[in-house]
Amino acid sequence: MSLNPDANDHQNTHGPTPNEAHSAVDVLLDTAYQAIDQASWANLFEFARKSKLPEFIADMFAGKHVNQSEDRPALHAALRNLSKSPIILDGQDVMPAVADVWRRIEALCNKWVGVTDVIHIGIGGSDFGPRLAIEALAHVPNIETRGMRMHFLANIDTAELARILDRAQPNSTRVIIVSKSFTTLETTMNAKAVVAWLKANNCTKGQIAKTLFAVTANVSAAKDFDIEEDHIFPFWDWVGGRYSVWSAVGLPIALQYGFKTFEEFLAGAHAMDLHFKNAPLESNLPVIMALALLHQQEKHGIKAYAAIPYADALDWFPKWLQQLDMESNGKSIDKDGKPAKYSSPVVFGSAGSNAQHSYFQLFHQGPEIIPIDFIAVRKAMSDRPEALAHHRILLSNCLAQAQALAHGKEDSNPNNVYPGKRPSSLLLLPEMNAFYLGALLALYENRAAALGALWNINSFDQPGVEYGKVLAKPIEKALASGSDHVLADDSVDAITAARINFLNS
Ligand code: F6P
Repeated sequence: MSLNPDANDHQNTHGPTPNEAHSAVDVLLDTAYQAIDQASWANLFEFARKSKLPEFIADMFAGKHVNQSEDRPALHAALRNLSKSPIILDGQDVMPAVADVWRRIEALCNKWVGVTDVIHIGIGGSDFGPRLAIEALAHVPNIETRGMRMHFLANIDTAELARILDRAQPNSTRVIIVSKSFTTLETTMNAKAVVAWLKANNCTKGQIAKTLFAVTANVSAAKDFDIEEDHIFPFWDWVGGRYSVWSAVGLPIALQYGFKTFEEFLAGAHAMDLHFKNAPLESNLPVIMALALLHQQEKHGIKAYAAIPYADALDWFPKWLQQLDMESNGKSIDKDGKPAKYSSPVVFGSAGSNAQHSYFQLFHQGPEIIPIDFIAVRKAMSDRPEALAHHRILLSNCLAQAQALAHGKEDSNPNNVYPGKRPSSLLLLPEMNAFYLGALLALYENRAAALGALWNINSFDQPGVEYGKVLAKPIEKALASGSDHVLADDSVDAITAARINFLNS
């Protein structure tokens, strides 16, 4: 493969580029420690072509029904298509409706005054994206913020609810109920609990109506929940939940940091989309990352990989990524209904350098090879006087870990041997801000889609999440009965019946 950085779409503006690096949107990807030779890269790109990856990319952006099982497109890229160039779905341009939601988000930002607390109720894809963005952008030095307390309520466990309601001020709180389906039990029950709290705090019907907002693809269910029509922000069934932060699901980002910052977030993602759509495979960041993972699956049979952001701002990133990768591609059956040869490895991670003091022992000396994406930010992420010195140490740790993992170390004492040959990539963002955060998330979204195409897996459905939800219903009923003589039947087996009986005793 040509590793000539001059061939890249966007030049790295920060000096000489490492040997095996590419950049797009000023995000640098260095795959040197993947230890993939030129011939293997050539084979990988050949395989990508044979797998019709370029055709898949074109189809996805063109609104073709790439989510075959649900007979829908996956058009989340339209949500960040700031150019508003027409995207035609079933004969109609979707951009006017998308732009109308942008206009409404901006109007809402200008309208909210005196709000102290926002309770964002949602789970999974209706939670991770905005939660990650709110946390990450809080680390941007001097970012303009409205200073509202942003509370994220996802878990059905009332511990989270109790902690939030202890802090929020009912008369100056706004509640955003976020659910694509508007049927998710955790979300509807938490929403009811928050409404009950507002009532218990003497909020009138009119005040509650003023307080409640919804973001959903099921507008009629939101209306049934007594949410006023002009407080409902729609999105569409062609947006998967885990790809939805770019829709009004990302409302908290605009409300807290301003609409301009939200637009920058979309702009970074849009720039990465244009790169994914137009760059040749050989310099296409999401494609290169996908192929590097595929190579490590074939070479080492890897079952897991880690994403370690050396940025406290990105501590939520691995959780967001877990849903993206494993809900999208954690499947055994391919698009043709046949057993898939490869699919998503387990993904995990947390912020470095903290992670070094936790599970890095296993990376260095464990029996499994676990490829790592090291994610670093060139510029220090605070304006503290110590920032430069600390940041140097943060970056030196990141670089040192990658080098140690690649080369290993001999020792006469087997206990001190580092086997090495452990692959990793380095992703380097120029700085932490809304634009590069958007670019980073879109890079991984596009990588997940590219992997799905290479593995011949539909990355846009999630049938595996349903069965457990169905089984929970009779179990909840049995728990509610209070009986410690529950018998096994069609929906509750003997082991679970015994557990229910123990809990009810
Ligand atoms: O149960 C999984 C899931 O459907 C995810 O795909 C989704 O992000 C999450 O639940 C929340 O769904 P909703 O936005 O419809 O409440």
